[in-house]
Amino acid sequence: METLLAEPGFLAPSGTIGADVSYILAVVFTVLFLISWGMAKKAQGTRHHKLILVSMVSMIVYFVGYYYARSLGVLSFEGREGFGGPDDVYENVFIPVLSTHLVLVVLGLIFAFYMLSQGFRASKKVDGEYLLKEGELKISARKFKIVMLTIFGCWAVVQVLLLATRENPMGASIAYALIFVTVALVASLEKLIEKLLPDGARRHRVLGRVTMVIFALILITSTATYIMLYFVYPLKS
Ligand code: HEM
Repeated sequence: METLLAEPGFLAPSGTIGADVSYILAVVFTVLFLISWGMAKKAQGTRHHKLILVSMVSMIVYFVGYYYARSLGVLSFEGREGFGGPDDVYENVFIPVLSTHLVLVVLGLIFAFYMLSQGFRASKKVDGEYLLKEGELKISARKFKIVMLTIFGCWAVVQVLLLATRENPMGASIAYALIFVTVALVASLEKLIEKLLPDGARRHRVLGRVTMVIFALILITSTATYIMLYFVYPLKS
């Protein structure tokens, strides 16, 4: 698989199959998200909701493929393999663009997962069509406790599995602990968000637009990274 992904690509003069496929997938899922924004704007709540689910699946496929096949994220921290341009462009353009891209990807993922559950909570189904419910949307203290306990329970299961299956579980334990702490922090942010945007429908529209803008920016920064790596400053062999 790795050798196939490293074969010459078909989009750029010096790209690889891995780079091209992951870039095309990035474009596909972002465009799906943006089309589903258009559907929401036209008040097509159900089509919007279905396309969002498809885009989420393609986005997860993309992320798994991207980080397994290319480890571009690691590139920014481990020196400049892959980038064949001058030092000042690397430091002043490539690294800032790539770092912005990585921050946006993390934010985009957090927002997308939050919006997915918020979308169900803020909608009602009338004659098979999803509509946003106007009015205050609050999570009850009991549900909040259940959410937190579920997150804690999932972390405990993962931790036990790591201890049982890995010889040296330290690195993975820290990584998973950080992921679950982030999930718990995002879940507790809900309390603050409820104060700032009490109306569930308005909250969905405002945060949904922010999410869509983040996705558009992810597409722009990944395109810029792709162009720099494979068109403008490829590695000279
Ligand atoms: C990543 C997840 C999601 C994002 C980013 C998102 C984003 C948005 C945005 C931006 C709008 C407002 C469009 C506009 O006026 O500009 C909207 C409306 C809406 N969304 Fe979502 N949404 C998501 C998930 C969901 C889910 C899972 C559901 C249903 C279960 C849902 C149901 C709706 C409905 C019913 C509307 C109102 C459409 C209308 O105006 O009639 N959304 N969404």
